[in-house]
Amino acid sequence: MMADHSELPAEEQLYPVPAHLLDASQCPKPWVSSLEQYKEMHRQSIENPDEFFGKEATELLSWTTPFHKVHHGGLQHGDIAWFLGGQLNASYNCVDRHAMSNPDKIAIIYEADEPNQSENITYGELLRRVCQLAGALRARGIRKGDTVAIYMPMIPEAVVALLACTRIGALHSVVFAGFSAEALRDRVQDASSRVVLTADQGKRGGKTIETKRIVDDALKSCPLVETVLVAQRTGAQVPMKEGRDFWLADECSKQPGYIDPEPMHSEDPMFLLYTSGSTGQPKGVMHTTAGYLLGAAMTVKYVFDYHPGDIFACMADVGWITGHTYIVYGPLSLGATSVLFESIPTYPTPARYWEMIAKHKITQFYTAPTAIRALRRLGDDWTKGHDLSSLRILGTVGEPINPEAWHWYNDIGQGKCAVVDTYWQTETGSHIITPLPGAIATKPGSATVPFFGIDLAILDPVTGKELEGNNVTGVLVVKRDWPSIARTIYGNHQRFLETYLKPYHGYYFTGDGATRDKDGYIWIRGRVDDVINVSGHRLSTAEIESALIMHHAVAETAVIGANDDVTGQCIHAFVCVKPGISIIPGHASTLDLSKELVLQVRKVIGPFAAPKKIYLVEDLPKTRSGKLMRRILRKIVAGESDSLGDISTLADPSVVEVLIQRVAKS
Ligand code: WT7
Repeated sequence: MMADHSELPAEEQLYPVPAHLLDASQCPKPWVSSLEQYKEMHRQSIENPDEFFGKEATELLSWTTPFHKVHHGGLQHGDIAWFLGGQLNASYNCVDRHAMSNPDKIAIIYEADEPNQSENITYGELLRRVCQLAGALRARGIRKGDTVAIYMPMIPEAVVALLACTRIGALHSVVFAGFSAEALRDRVQDASSRVVLTADQGKRGGKTIETKRIVDDALKSCPLVETVLVAQRTGAQVPMKEGRDFWLADECSKQPGYIDPEPMHSEDPMFLLYTSGSTGQPKGVMHTTAGYLLGAAMTVKYVFDYHPGDIFACMADVGWITGHTYIVYGPLSLGATSVLFESIPTYPTPARYWEMIAKHKITQFYTAPTAIRALRRLGDDWTKGHDLSSLRILGTVGEPINPEAWHWYNDIGQGKCAVVDTYWQTETGSHIITPLPGAIATKPGSATVPFFGIDLAILDPVTGKELEGNNVTGVLVVKRDWPSIARTIYGNHQRFLETYLKPYHGYYFTGDGATRDKDGYIWIRGRVDDVINVSGHRLSTAEIESALIMHHAVAETAVIGANDDVTGQCIHAFVCVKPGISIIPGHASTLDLSKELVLQVRKVIGPFAAPKKIYLVEDLPKTRSGKLMRRILRKIVAGESDSLGDISTLADPSVVEVLIQRVAKS
């Protein structure tokens, strides 16, 4: 019987490992099957990382040259290196070795936007397709160390594209296909990509997205781009620029079905992925080959308790790190069958997830709290009548999950599944705080305990001193490096050091606040910097502000994150208009300006960054030295204007009353 503690405060609720998972007649024995085993392995990983990770790297990855030293450098100087002297290739590890032993095994289940259009790709076929695209890239002059931009919908070619790049040692730089042309342009330019891989159109939730058209817009100001290879998703007529644009399938068909993988050193760069930080400029987080791949493989093995025969389904987009690690590199490195889901949870109906789980007999299912909350709102009827008995593990990622959503998700597993709330970041490469399903009792809303090799600390944000013991809250840091941590920011190592290693010298700074509760469990409290998390998408306030400021009517802006029942946070923008522009709340011209400003953000960043509310104002709360007090805006929006704290340092405290009125009226 499943214990129900939902009446207790979340911190007091402890859900033991489901008996079902430990029942050898029902489930494979979990790789880590007791708390003691977790503790012992974690202790070894911290006390003797060379031995621990040396063994994992030898067992889980295939090397063409073995490494001679497990670890060098660290957080102190930002000279992190793992598996020195070793050589390996990520695409070989994810494709060839499984294609050779088991060519007919399904690598990818492509669950297309329309539910009746799923398609299976075997490892043997994946190898051919990866080799052919790798050959096509080489034919276009791409060599080891070059960067290739990928702007694609969730189609098999996207997975093939990542693996084709790593096969020849090119760094892929995937740009989420929800980004606007301008955002794409900035990323293509920053990475100096000469080739862009894309598709004619995208399909999502029954809607068509003009993918190629967005690429064309972006490339108007990317003089370095010589070649665009276009996959055909819909077969629509799209403009093709002579000498630059080619059909991906045509180019591939000219190439042989096998080419050798490029031998890569452990620390050779593997890919870039742009992410938002506290400044307006997105940063190209760089991961290197062996450490990243090991983190991906180890977490699929231990956190998702992967066993041969499992059908692994991560609902993220390949455009984000979650897709990189848990659609492509993690599952494929272990030879798993990985589901590639092109659609959305509510298309054609809110039963889509559950129908898909039943149809493909999915064993591990991984999604985000925002999707869980959205489905929960639509009612329980959609979850009924589906055979979900194949499921063993339900994962969540991207933002803190509120206990109500956790319980709803847990109920999907009918007491038989473990819920793993996995905390990590683009920069960490793979999970760093998470339960292990066979070993760690869970608490709804807590990411629980550190993964192997992760030595956590919570610091006093002001003094930077470690807060010892339990029942403490502060900023979350990691005390030493681990294999899959990012190595640098592309072209800007200084920024890497300043963002992550210098704020608290010698520690990796996550940017999140966290509590360690009385039992030593970790609760992520959200970002302590100017980063907003909307539906698990990471956005910087500065980035949105600089998009708004480009509008001719705007003098100044302040963007904040407000709470939202479905998306976790949403964006509220205070916009100070230029003198001479009148704002009359409710008036047509004012409403039009608000609409224009929303469009402006969609255009500069992408639709997912659109502010939910725009407040047009005459003035913003600033200190006498001119520092914007976002804290006050956050409180006003949260309806906490009675606890604004000290506003006497404001240059003009009367601004506050005006803002309270303005927010109340909107
Ligand atoms: C930020 C990283 C890599 C996952 C996808 C987002 C937040 C992520 C959790 C979680 C609470 C979480 C943090 C983190 N976050 N997972 N399980 N519980 N918060 O990757 O875009 O690099 O964002 O997402 O705030 O810093 P990302």
